[in-house]
Amino acid sequence: MKYLSKSLFRRKSEALLQEEAETSSLKRVLTAFDLTMLGIGAIIGTGIFVLTGEAAAGTEYALGAGPAITISFVITGLACGFAALCYAEFASMIPISGSAYTYAYASFGEILAWIIGWDLILEYAIGNVAVAIGWAGYFKSFLDGLGWHLPGILSEATGTQMVQLASGEWQPLTASLTEKLGDQLQGLPQVTSLLNLPALFITFVVTVLLIIGIKESARTNAFLVCVKLVLVGLFLYFGFPHFEPSEHWQNFAPNGWHGIMTGAALVFFAYIGFDAVSTTAEEAKNPKRDLPIGMIAALIICTILYIVVAAVLTGMVPLDVLANEHPVSAALTAVGENKVSFLISLGITLTMPTVLLVMQLGQVRIFYSMSRDGLLPAKFAEVSKRFRTPAYSTVVVGLVVGLLAACMDIGAVAELTNIGTLFAFVLVAIGVWILRIQQPDRNRGFKVPAYKWICSGAILVCSYLMLSLPWITWVRFILWMAIGLAIYFIYSRKHSALNN
Ligand code: ALA
Repeated sequence: MKYLSKSLFRRKSEALLQEEAETSSLKRVLTAFDLTMLGIGAIIGTGIFVLTGEAAAGTEYALGAGPAITISFVITGLACGFAALCYAEFASMIPISGSAYTYAYASFGEILAWIIGWDLILEYAIGNVAVAIGWAGYFKSFLDGLGWHLPGILSEATGTQMVQLASGEWQPLTASLTEKLGDQLQGLPQVTSLLNLPALFITFVVTVLLIIGIKESARTNAFLVCVKLVLVGLFLYFGFPHFEPSEHWQNFAPNGWHGIMTGAALVFFAYIGFDAVSTTAEEAKNPKRDLPIGMIAALIICTILYIVVAAVLTGMVPLDVLANEHPVSAALTAVGENKVSFLISLGITLTMPTVLLVMQLGQVRIFYSMSRDGLLPAKFAEVSKRFRTPAYSTVVVGLVVGLLAACMDIGAVAELTNIGTLFAFVLVAIGVWILRIQQPDRNRGFKVPAYKWICSGAILVCSYLMLSLPWITWVRFILWMAIGLAIYFIYSRKHSALNN
């Protein structure tokens, strides 16, 4: 018993972490600018371009925040800001890849490190499944706009009933569509979708880019991020002249506080990604200084953009215009800016893959760290001689994400991602606090100011957001963690490098 508890709570020493940082075989090429760009690349994506509309207007299952979605963004931004400061302190103290997983290994011991590592799969890999499906939605509507219709059998989650409209495009046969079509439905062709081919395709492209190498990926990313920022700028430039708060903001918070918090729990997805920067610690030129800069700069830039976009979006059209999968382009079309709307749809299709890129990179780096520690098979830490990237792990992650994206539905996947990420944020904030007390003299490149307040803020707001998620998400989350624990006791504990 004594041995068991000792092995569960064994920790990595500072000297060992230092040695790992110094002997890493990954290339150190990323600058503060690259890291900020990676952060923005991971942050701006499905959340702001897809989920904002539903969070404002509401769905079958959730109350909408209305124009008060701007407040939801402020609350979630604050929670992420607190968490980012905690991540920054850890990243400046333990600059090796693995993010929250590695921090937990240093502060709580092995079992909690494993729990976080397993939990982070929800954030990175499962999050990427949601983004790939979101991208596929935009891609399909872009093709439909050109008059090219993807066959119904290849365009949605496995088993989705599809119907071909008179215009030629295939759409999922939802309850509201059935009602809208009425008797017309009888004469329309229907099929059951086999798989979501575009989602599988985009995951394949991203996987190949990552195998080729991080510098190339970072460059591609920086270019796409610039395009993404131009798109947001275009939306604001053409949307702002139609901003009529006296008309559209009259009922600012139709569902009160409850709607605002439900909205916040949903749009949390929009902020996920800044922490992915911390997984590239072994590829950063000056991680102690640049990781905090990259994370916090990316988060500040995105928070400001999100609040402004949400304000303009809800102030330019009635809420029902936003209740769909492409609220930004729908709003522009509704006010007669058709060309800009098409351009933005095209731009989103081209740039959303940056999110996939950074998140998949993050997942691979975490597996790399877990494998180096013996908790996962050694293959996951193997660095390809030719590309000097963890090619094996990249392929495995790409395959799993691609296959799941081809057959799953976006809603459940996004909620699981949110709960998993919030859980990691809570544990990281607790970890910062514990290490401040246990190891006050340790060398920290960056220190969270007023740490007791900031850590408490992160713990409380993130827990509250977790509680705002539906119970079914909790069930799935607990089940996932139980599977993880079983694997730990069957395999990882025995193979841990700390056994020797
Ligand atoms: N924040 C990322 C997105 O919104 C995950 O797509």
